[in-house]
Amino acid sequence: MANLQSNRQPDTQSRLILRQPDDWHVHLRDGEMLDAVVNFTARQCARAIVMPNLPTPVTDVQTAIAYRDRINAAVDKTHDFTPLMICYLTDATDPKEVERGFHEGVFTACKLYPANATTNSAHGVTDITKIYAVLEVMQNIGMPLLVHGEVTDADIDIFDREAVFIERVLKDVIVDFPGLKIVFEHITTKDGVDFVREAEANIGATITPHHLEFNRNAMLVGGMQPHYYCLPVAKRELHRLALRKAATSGSPKFFFGTDSAPHVVGSKESACGCAGLFNATHAIESYAKVFEEEGALDKLEGFASEHGPHFYGLPLNEKRIILDRTPNLVPATVPVMDTHIVPFHADTKLAWKFVGFE
Ligand code: NCD
Ligand code: ZN
Repeated sequence: MANLQSNRQPDTQSRLILRQPDDWHVHLRDGEMLDAVVNFTARQCARAIVMPNLPTPVTDVQTAIAYRDRINAAVDKTHDFTPLMICYLTDATDPKEVERGFHEGVFTACKLYPANATTNSAHGVTDITKIYAVLEVMQNIGMPLLVHGEVTDADIDIFDREAVFIERVLKDVIVDFPGLKIVFEHITTKDGVDFVREAEANIGATITPHHLEFNRNAMLVGGMQPHYYCLPVAKRELHRLALRKAATSGSPKFFFGTDSAPHVVGSKESACGCAGLFNATHAIESYAKVFEEEGALDKLEGFASEHGPHFYGLPLNEKRIILDRTPNLVPATVPVMDTHIVPFHADTKLAWKFVGFE
């Protein structure tokens, strides 16, 4: 019924009140970049899964505690924000360290980066079987595995790397570890959507606002558009449509994960530009745009604020955020150090605006 109403009268709704969201995949970086970006996430989200791909990755408990302290120190005291720390898996990860970190409440999950798949992943895993002992422990203790799902083989076309990862890696992992909770991060393909939908309830996925918004043409038509380049790269339109359908379907398997990944403008507009979009300034508003376009505003709260905590086995947030229908201009630039970042939706107006808490 609620769905029908929002389909019929989308323009009459001027305020949305939602349980506060969490970001289940974000890059907060470190140092001055951390200071510049963290409060965009902390003002909207109660919790965030903080990606561990720092230049020196977060591979042990002590490093994670020190990084968590730096994040907390950078968060404005007016925000009530909890960073959830992740262990970056390498070929040499010690299962005992992972287990200790989980039981001590430092690590929420582990992240699998196939070696050299993306930014700061040189220390990633070279062969999935090298971490089988870790996966065994994670399965036993109920610790989620977060997966950057792309193969890195030079002979596999970059647009096929996610689909091939499913065939060559993920299908075996779910057979070998049927009880392991897995988040297929930032899925970009219909193949990813279908795989997650057909898998058991312990397999979920995050979907970014940008993969819901544009397809690969955005990156390549009218000249190279480095601010639309991220990994996994955006795919064909049919894949974007499948992602939109999945995100707005109400399925508990799909949830909010921005993959906000800031790089300064000079690193993006470069002969070898970095992968990553910075979307944390207007995360919930960017998702709201898509859900409204799909006539599914009534499904936004589940996606943004309920499916993630349920998957992770964490409590729902109690606070409610307010989004008003009012023109919301995304800044053209966000200052950092002596330069700036160009955010997602830069210099465009979004229809919804996060205005605070109920
Ligand atoms: C991320 C980054 O810059 O750290 N980049 C990106 O394009 N998403 C890494 C990642 O999540 O792949
Ligand atoms: Zn990421």
